Amino acid sequence: MQTPTSWTEKGYVCEPIPDGIDLKSEIRRLAKEKNAVILAHYYTEGALQDIADFVGDSLALAQQAARTQADIIIMCGVHFMGETCKILCPAKRVICPDINATCSLAESCPADRFAAFVKAYPGHKVISYVNTTAATKAWTDVVVTSSNARQIVESFPDHQPLIFGPDRNLGAYINSITGRNMLLWDGACHVHERFSVEKLLALKQQYPDAEVLVHPECKKGIAALADVIGSTAALLKHAVGSDVQTFLVVTESGILHKMRQMAPQKTFIPVPPEDSLESEACAIPGTESTPKCCACNECNYMRLITLEKLYNSLRYEWPVIEVPEEVREKAIIPIQRMLEISERLGL
Ligand code: 13P
Ligand code: SF4
Repeated sequence: MQTPTSWTEKGYVCEPIPDGIDLKSEIRRLAKEKNAVILAHYYTEGALQDIADFVGDSLALAQQAARTQADIIIMCGVHFMGETCKILCPAKRVICPDINATCSLAESCPADRFAAFVKAYPGHKVISYVNTTAATKAWTDVVVTSSNARQIVESFPDHQPLIFGPDRNLGAYINSITGRNMLLWDGACHVHERFSVEKLLALKQQYPDAEVLVHPECKKGIAALADVIGSTAALLKHAVGSDVQTFLVVTESGILHKMRQMAPQKTFIPVPPEDSLESEACAIPGTESTPKCCACNECNYMRLITLEKLYNSLRYEWPVIEVPEEVREKAIIPIQRMLEISERLGL
């Protein structure tokens, strides 16, 4: 398949979309014609979530990839999510509509430095959050996501020393709820670290009956104000099932799209980051029941993926995710361990 000349190897210039086409129906037509499955994370823009075959959190996306019969997997998410698909499905063509969609958390843990850290602590088992590169996973005993981290950590005997990387906030949270003392890699997500305690406190005063939903990648000060701490899927499930009507959502604001779709009668308020300006435009339109927010906290990497790029990636079957075989054969072991433990535990 020829790649468009306007796309450089690393950089991305979106090929112009032909005039007069209905982008959404063309995407669906191409996906069917090519037997491609479109997977999307909850942090991508709403239009992508609506067109995808499957929307989920990191665990569900990996589980979906492992069982798909499609010939092509299109990952509307970030690079490490595409790598996980490629590791699990080496014979399939795995595409990320913008190859530059990386992840600050994964980038905070380069494989060579992580390997040196692991080697400095012999006798430790190594647990890595799924938000890592394939090369870092190759130094790992078992991968976790925020949906299963607690249960997987607890599956190790109490006396087993553990290393946890790369997210220091998730690691500290898991230490606090399990009583473990895992050694933590000092990494973080730039989106979750920038939520403002002050702004959350002000919103709590304004909405005293609201529940605070927090992703475990947030800092301790934010987590201390949470009613519920969980993965994107866990926060969504809680919001839909709860008797409460109003929620302050402390994670990437893309999740509000699904929350509003699944609980249209409820009010979801995105908590702003430290550096937000009141005058900032909001990507999420307000409705009568859901006040317009002016300071959504978005992941700039997730937001690189657009409908136009999805269309082009289906059209040209590019850009593909590749994982060197010597890395893949090591990285698949901790990913499969995670999937097996999750299945055993019904997660
Ligand atoms: P989830 O596993 O909760 O979907 O989180 C993924 C992620 O990137 C969080 O920043
Ligand atoms: Fe990575 Fe943070 Fe974006 Fe999640 S929100 S993909 S952890 S940079």
